[in-house]
Amino acid sequence: VKYSTICVLGLGYIGLPTASTFAARNLKVVGVDTNPHVVEILQKGGVHIQEPGLRALVQDAFRSGCLRVASQPVEADAFIIAVPTPIFPDKSADLTAVKAAAESIVPVLRKGNLVILESTSPVRTTQNIVQPILEQSGLKAGRDFLLAYSPERVLPGKILQELVENTRVIGGVDRASAEAGRDLYAVFVRGEIVLTDAATAETVKLMENTFRDVNIALANELSRLAEKSGVNIWEAIAIANRHPRVKLLRPGPGVGGHCISVDPWFLVESAPGITPLVRTAREVNDAQPQYVASRVEEILGGLTGRRVAVLGLTYKADVDDIRESPALDVIARLSERGAVLSAFDPMAQEVSIKGRRADSVEEAVRGADCVLLLVAHEPFRAIRPESLRPIVRTPAVLDCQNAWDRAAWESCGFQFHLLGDGSRAITWNVEK
Ligand SMILES: NC(=O)c1ccc[n+]([C@@H]2O[C@H](COP(=O)([O-])OP(=O)(O)OC[C@H]3O[C@@H](n4cnc5c(N)ncnc54)[C@H](O)[C@@H]3O)[C@@H](O)[C@H]2O)c1
Repeated sequence: VKYSTICVLGLGYIGLPTASTFAARNLKVVGVDTNPHVVEILQKGGVHIQEPGLRALVQDAFRSGCLRVASQPVEADAFIIAVPTPIFPDKSADLTAVKAAAESIVPVLRKGNLVILESTSPVRTTQNIVQPILEQSGLKAGRDFLLAYSPERVLPGKILQELVENTRVIGGVDRASAEAGRDLYAVFVRGEIVLTDAATAETVKLMENTFRDVNIALANELSRLAEKSGVNIWEAIAIANRHPRVKLLRPGPGVGGHCISVDPWFLVESAPGITPLVRTAREVNDAQPQYVASRVEEILGGLTGRRVAVLGLTYKADVDDIRESPALDVIARLSERGAVLSAFDPMAQEVSIKGRRADSVEEAVRGADCVLLLVAHEPFRAIRPESLRPIVRTPAVLDCQNAWDRAAWESCGFQFHLLGDGSRAITWNVEK
């Protein structure tokens, strides 16, 4: 192993699994986070992120002495930057954390070091933003230290597995930097390691998430059309996807998380005049919570004083992450129009909502006029409608995830609505 000490900046969903996976391979890792709360929890033996297997991995890493945490970077052979890259309200990239992280490396950067940016970033951030900051050390990228961009493409819920198994892309500011990155990640990556230049690697990451966003927008638009034309979109998609070259994605209440709902804006920002498709897809998906709120309004014939029980707050099923969650947007819109909300999510972190946070499905649903399923967490899929029928005020349901069985709900007297289903009957080919 060429690199035996690593400093990982940012101990979130990406940085903490990465740091502990390197530590599990016996590299000496110092994890750095500027949030004192994160450092404190980790130092006390806790883990602030819910991710299968992570707690045990982190605790083993501490026990072996290979991982420790700090609030400032220290000297190391390699530095990995995994800090947040959100967008400002005007949808432009907020690179504050990337710049601060790079600045914090400057005093400890030494000749021969490798620096890798993992944060999803606008194209040319590595060379135009990170490189000049690091060069304030007096060292030159390419000559004195190595610099590369390596995007992270793990799926929350499967981070530890995908970290190791996914194809890893490493874009160097020069060939030597890309090769150095390969040597580092080869410590644990079992997937293919593909080398390219930094700008291509940055582009690849943004294209991947934009591909998904555009295709989800298509599914959402088609699902609105299906409702108008008396068709069940889920049935239509199930059949269309039997075509050997068609793979429509799923409609839903919107797109959240801090990747797919954010990254396409990095492309739009860099060239607004030539990216109308990417922008429109974002707008279609961002309008979906509003669309869902209108569907509830239609179902109830008005929202003022009506009680809506919202199931699910996270941005997708079986994760605890509420960042950019469309569910929060749906709640805000329902509440603006006078609905009385109660919401339950067994996974979601603390978050203040316009309404009551219930502690169980029953508590959320009691007295409701409409049960609104926004996120198909496993326990929600298993809900038995007969257990809810006696406790609602009005038996109406809007399932935005195609998670529930219409016949089961209707047989206990619920008026059942499914997002994207204008037919209310045909589900011969739909698999739940
Ligand atoms: N979460 C994912 O599934 C995922 C997937 C692919 C890519 N990414 C990208 O990875 C990057 C990190 O995402 P995340 O989900 O881990 O974020 P996160 O918010 O979970 O964690 C980031 C951590 O960085 C810390 N931090 C902020 N500024 C810092 C600084 N200057 N020095 C040290 N620490 C600092 C924060 O306190 C936080 O704990 C983002 O660019 C994101 O777009 C995330």
